[in-house]
Amino acid sequence: MVKITTLSELTLDGKLSLGPGASSKDLFDFYGDELRAWFHGQRASNDAIMVGAGTVRSDDPELTVRHAAGKNPLRVVPCSRGDLPTDCRLLNDGAPTLIAVSALATETAVEALRARPHVEVVVCGEDAVDLPGLMAALEARGVRSLIVEGGSRLLHSLHALGLISRIIIKHIPVISGAEEAPTYLRSGEHGARLSLSRWKLEELFALSGVAISTYLPLEATA
Ligand SMILES: NC(=O)c1ccc[n+]([C@@H]2O[C@H](COP(=O)([O-])OP(=O)(O)OC[C@H]3O[C@@H](n4cnc5c(N)ncnc54)[C@H](OP(=O)(O)O)[C@@H]3O)[C@@H](O)[C@H]2O)c1
Repeated sequence: MVKITTLSELTLDGKLSLGPGASSKDLFDFYGDELRAWFHGQRASNDAIMVGAGTVRSDDPELTVRHAAGKNPLRVVPCSRGDLPTDCRLLNDGAPTLIAVSALATETAVEALRARPHVEVVVCGEDAVDLPGLMAALEARGVRSLIVEGGSRLLHSLHALGLISRIIIKHIPVISGAEEAPTYLRSGEHGARLSLSRWKLEELFALSGVAISTYLPLEATA
């Protein structure tokens, strides 16, 4: 089974970014070098890294290891129609990337993705990407650990499916004040209802003036 850790930065008012449409990269401005190195070390210690298509569209992330030693994890993006921006970094920088699409993706969209060097496409799911199916495909490729860096809808789906083994939150000491900014979890169009899940604090520490808390599912710690 692929062990899934989520890693998110949250403002003190519980937001994933400073406003609607803003990139969560703006929150990186509040980082110091020590935190940045730790953060990239978390990436390096996982076989794969995943964000949702929404995050690729808004943040255009690199998802590589740059501020720590270690290998780049395999980058994974669920994108139902395979319609990521053609100029996004993930499709153009030549590092290995796996795009998961659903049956909604046209053959043309899939072929265009497959034509990119180092981009692999898997098809799983009807409307949205079937995340358990994607995990099985990753496991078949030897992926044992996956770090998920958001955003709200992908995190919501993973929680709804009970797939998460560990939560890491970086508590960025700012208040965004932006009511419409995305919150930690948001159900998408077809999002299932979340039920209560209880988590146990595993670790609490500070780096570069930012508190970091990690949590394990309560039942797994008994
Ligand atoms: N602070 C942080 O730690 C952090 C980290 C990352 C992102 N963010 C912020 O989060 C926001 C983006 O969040 P978001 O909710 O719009 O996007 P998201 O969660 O990154 O991506 C969601 C999209 O992924 C695709 N998808 C395919 N299958 C899915 C499935 N089974 N479950 C969920 N999604 C699936 C869907 O797009 P298609 O319909 O195209 O398939 C869906 O709309 C941005 O503001 C970004 O800055 C913050």
